[in-house]
Formats: sequence, structure tokens, C-alpha cells
Amino acid sequence: MQVLTTQWDVHAAVRDWRRQADRIGFVPTMGNLHAGHMRLVQVAKQHCDKVVVSIYVNPMQFGAGEDFTRYPRTLEEDQAKLAPLNVDVVFVPNDQSMYPHGHQQTTYVDVPGLSIGLEGAQRPGHFRGVATVVNKLFNIVQPDVAVFGEKDFQQLLVIRRMVRDLDMPIEIIGEPTVRETDGLAMSSRNQYLSRQERQQAGGLYETLQYVRDRLQRNGVDFTDLEQDAVMRLEKQGFVPDYVAIRQSDTLEEPKSRTDPLVILAAVRLGKTRLLDNLRV
Ligand code: PAF
Repeated sequence: MQVLTTQWDVHAAVRDWRRQADRIGFVPTMGNLHAGHMRLVQVAKQHCDKVVVSIYVNPMQFGAGEDFTRYPRTLEEDQAKLAPLNVDVVFVPNDQSMYPHGHQQTTYVDVPGLSIGLEGAQRPGHFRGVATVVNKLFNIVQPDVAVFGEKDFQQLLVIRRMVRDLDMPIEIIGEPTVRETDGLAMSSRNQYLSRQERQQAGGLYETLQYVRDRLQRNGVDFTDLEQDAVMRLEKQGFVPDYVAIRQSDTLEEPKSRTDPLVILAAVRLGKTRLLDNLRV
């Protein structure tokens, strides 16, 4: 497994693989890898001859007052986890090489519509940062396939739309969320939870399941159900940012009961912000 820090080294590796007609898989991450990331790497391995994992905490997708500085950076442990999975390259760029003029002065990618509500409303500029860095990483790695987790459901849709709108010849695979035994979606941010908060945290997934079960009954009003879910979460000690029932392909409000739906939620528990979703 090679650990490369510059785009030029990645270009050179990719050039050689292309000469051999290898299919290239890519898993972009911010590091602090857990079983959810490992699953994404395994899927990339199944589809491709060569796999690149990037580890980069992208300052452009964090807003003022968010957890950019305290985001866990565990490069050595991450490398130790990736080595047994036969990853070919771990790409670990630095801020200077990714944003030589600073991330506020960079050319950027905005994905309209999908980026505006939900996480976009709570974290203005977040999806611009995500789309821009993913576009840059795609240009560096030039993958045939890129694998993302469904836990960040809106992010996955934003990336799919960017790829389609900008004619990027990349297949995007979305992988189901990997969960702890109590249903909590795996996330690097879970380690911010205190022991007591960790015991409460499974309540978020339970509430999503409750909403899904209620949705399967006839005649339920979506807005009432969202409010009911918010109240249930508040009773359990969460501070909900939103619970939203949306069309799973556009994130627009459902127009009919037969639309494929997704329930999305973001809550705060102490100092930790948790995000989850469940498809119906
Ligand atoms: O999901 C993440 O870890 C990040 O948003 C990503 C896709 C690696 C871009 O920084």
C-alpha cells in the first residue's frame, strides 16, 4: 500500500494503471476510519482492480463554529486498518496542495436545488465545500467507480447530480449505512458522545423506525408525523434540527403516497450532532 501526498504522485500511479486497462475504484474519506468506511473499501475492491482511499479533512465544508479543528485525525491507525484490505494507494493531501490560494479563494462547484434544504439550510456552504473537494479528488484520482455511504444521504444525491450535470464518467455507488448493535449509524463523530449520551443515541434510529412503521399505515399526515417524531426525540433528550419525510430521489416534499420516500433526521445530543436516515 503506497501512501501518497501529492496529486502528481497519484497521477503517475493512475497513469500506469490505465496503461494496464485497470478499473480504478475510489473511496473519499475524512479519516478516523470505522467499519462503515471498511465496507465502502470492500465494495470498491469488489468492483475494481485498483483502489484509492483519500484521507482529507476538508476545511471548505465546515462552517464557522463547527468541529473542523477537533475533528479526529488518526492517520496511523487509519493506515493500519487499510493495509489488510489491500488498498493500493492512500492519498493524504494537505491544505496547501488542495487549496494553494486558500479555500475561500478557490473555484467552486455549486449543485443547486438539492443543496439548499435540510443539511444545506443548517450548514450554509457545506455542500459547496463537499462538491468542490469531491470534484477535485475525482480529477486527481480519475476513478471509474466511487463509493459513498448512504448515511450522508443528501451528500450522496448532491454528488450523483454533480456527476450527471458535469458529465463525469464515474459510476457512483451508494452503500447502506453500517450500524452499531443498538442501531446508531456509525460515524466518526460518535466518539464525541459521553457514555450517557451514547446510551441515549440509539433512540434516533428507533424514532426513524417508528416513523417508517407509521408511514406504512393508511391516512397518516406527513407533517403531523414529522412533528410527532420531533416530540419523541425531544422527550428522549435530543435537540432535533429536523425530521423530514422526502422523496428519496429529489428530496422534494412527497407528492403522492406511492413516491419512494426517505426519512431524514439531524439532532443534537450534548455537543454532538447526529445525522441519520431511513428509506421507506
Ligand atoms: O463524507 C465525507 O467523509 C466527506 O464529506 C467527503 C465525501 C470525504 C468529502 O470531504
